[in-house]
Amino acid sequence: MPASLALWRDRRGRVSILRIAVLCLLVTPVVLAAVTILTDGLGARPINNLIHRAGYWALLFVLITLAVTPLRRIGRFSQVIDVRRMIGVGAFCYAATHISLFIADQMFDLTKVATEIALRLYLTIGFTALLSLAALAATSTDGMVRRLGAARWQRLHQLVYVIALLAIVHFFQQTKADVWVPTFVASLFGWLMAYRFVIWRKRSKGELSATALLVLTLVVSVLTFAGEAIGIGIAYHVSPLLVLETALDFDVDMIRPGWLVLGAGLCVVALDLVRTWQRRPRAAAKPPAVTAEPAREAGSL
Ligand code: HEM
Repeated sequence: MPASLALWRDRRGRVSILRIAVLCLLVTPVVLAAVTILTDGLGARPINNLIHRAGYWALLFVLITLAVTPLRRIGRFSQVIDVRRMIGVGAFCYAATHISLFIADQMFDLTKVATEIALRLYLTIGFTALLSLAALAATSTDGMVRRLGAARWQRLHQLVYVIALLAIVHFFQQTKADVWVPTFVASLFGWLMAYRFVIWRKRSKGELSATALLVLTLVVSVLTFAGEAIGIGIAYHVSPLLVLETALDFDVDMIRPGWLVLGAGLCVVALDLVRTWQRRPRAAAKPPAVTAEPAREAGSL
């Protein structure tokens, strides 16, 4: 088997536990769908059920690729960079399955598919995201990095921010009733982008302090509560203040996205504190070597 297909091996050819774990994660949606088919079944509209699953996982994997940089910096897990490309290509595979199932659902009538994509805004947005994701997947090889040059390649791969945004808009637009999941996904995206924005403003290679991460989390959480209240208020013609009051009333059976993003952000703060504390004795004995991250890795999917 060609070495490039041995996805469980790292660049040095060693078996990598991290890569195996990521491969397991990437096939999890397929296993879950297979288990559902064999047990409860996929319901009255099986293809539609699979379309939703594939779209949901495609978006989730795009967000996981965006979480790699914060995880690497805050958690000091430099190895995770090794699997970012794999997760990005996985996201593309699920998005490609998503559109293939949509085509199957339209009885392979490509004229109808094209018309639907052209006429329905949420499908046009999804299609734009898919084309962009395809461009990133096609240029994800080492050969393409060399051919494009690191700077151009990095600029191209910043498209992933736009892709995530388009996919979230597409998610909101096709959601008919409860926007709980899209709101939570949007708030996670908000956190990941706010983190990058603060780092960019600081123009520093150093990590944000735990206090800065805490403030960032609180701001994103407050914005999530406010956004959800205003959105529901407008959609259902009710007072946003009333919605906010209900959302702030913590309910274990229906935890609002604002609380969840607060919880996730606090976990990140805790991770930062633990990792800083773990490094303290060694830092006193020997200052850490400053190694420049390869440019190819800095902006990749
Ligand atoms: C040509 C491109 C695309 C088409 C035609 C398309 C089509 C669809 C359709 C038909 C649905 C279900 C709508 C319904 O049942 O009313 C859907 C849902 C969804 N799509 Fe797409 N989509 C495209 C691209 C994408 C991409 C690139 C992503 C993510 C990266 C994505 C993420 C989603 C998500 C998250 C959902 C909702 C899943 C859920 O309900 O849990 N889509 N899409």
